[in-house]
Amino acid sequence: MERNPAECNEKPRRTAIVTGGTRGMGLAITRLLAQKGMSVLAVYRSRQEEAEAAARRFLEEKLDVTVFKADVGFKAEAEKAAAFAFARWGHIDVLVNNAGVFDFCFLEEMTEEFFDDMYRTNLKSMIYMTQAVLPHMKNGHWGRIVNATSISGSLADVGLVAYACSKAGVNLLTKVSAGELAPYGITVNAYAPGIIHTDMTDPMIRERGDAQLRQIPAGYFGKPEEAANLVGFLCSEEAAYITGEIIGVDGGMMKVQNPGRAYDFVRKAERGKS
Ligand SMILES: NC(=O)c1ccc[n+]([C@@H]2O[C@H](COP(=O)([O-])OP(=O)(O)OC[C@H]3O[C@@H](n4cnc5c(N)ncnc54)[C@H](OP(=O)(O)O)[C@@H]3O)[C@@H](O)[C@H]2O)c1
Repeated sequence: MERNPAECNEKPRRTAIVTGGTRGMGLAITRLLAQKGMSVLAVYRSRQEEAEAAARRFLEEKLDVTVFKADVGFKAEAEKAAAFAFARWGHIDVLVNNAGVFDFCFLEEMTEEFFDDMYRTNLKSMIYMTQAVLPHMKNGHWGRIVNATSISGSLADVGLVAYACSKAGVNLLTKVSAGELAPYGITVNAYAPGIIHTDMTDPMIRERGDAQLRQIPAGYFGKPEEAANLVGFLCSEEAAYITGEIIGVDGGMMKVQNPGRAYDFVRKAERGKS
């Protein structure tokens, strides 16, 4: 017989939706939230085989993860994902708006379609998903919403007009919604990755990884799990007093220029010793 948490006076498991939850940082976030005891709906857009492989791994790891196909850049699809989670668990507590796309395009060559696709996936999806889960979080008078922004949301980078504008929009969406949703016990924060090694950044790392490493004080490209650790904390009970924050997870990239010089200095000093 199934245990009814209400009858046993237990708190029901927290539930979470992670968009883009089957690859890259989203995959690590899904795993971490599930390891913390949450039931997680991991939403993907098109790479079904990888999503199914992830679902099989989660099953082997005895984690409560369901994968779900929806293009959250469309309002109806975002609503479908939220409705599925609610029908399954009866409440939605956590939303991680992680899905995003990245591409370079110079203004001179940019089509309306390119800009619209980037905006729809990176920014409108977060508005649609937030609206879709809001009634459920209001009911529970508790919620955690965490959005994926980027260092490019505040540091201009040539060739990234569409991406940068979408992420700058995420920064302000995060702050405005933190204010609007605070009366319902909902916090809204964002994580701003620098360069985390995923499918998204792999081509860039292969092409000019050495030059980019010289810009990162930590001296290496971030791991998806390192971003997930921050998101996991922002989704926890303990993060109740943190809202409207844009928090970097970038190995110090946004804090200091020319960190490569420190590595040169240390290497030279070590050579001098030997
Ligand atoms: N990696 C970095 O260094 C970095 C730096 C700054 C910011 N970010 C941001 O961090 C987030 C995650 O990046 P990542 O590197 O982990 O990306 P990734 O490895 O390319 O994975 C992206 C995930 O998002 C899903 N997705 C994309 N569009 C979607 C849509 N419209 N509806 C539903 N799912 C969608 C993909 O689904 P499919 O598997 O079906 O394709 C995939 O699961 C993004 O918002 C990105 O902009 C990343």
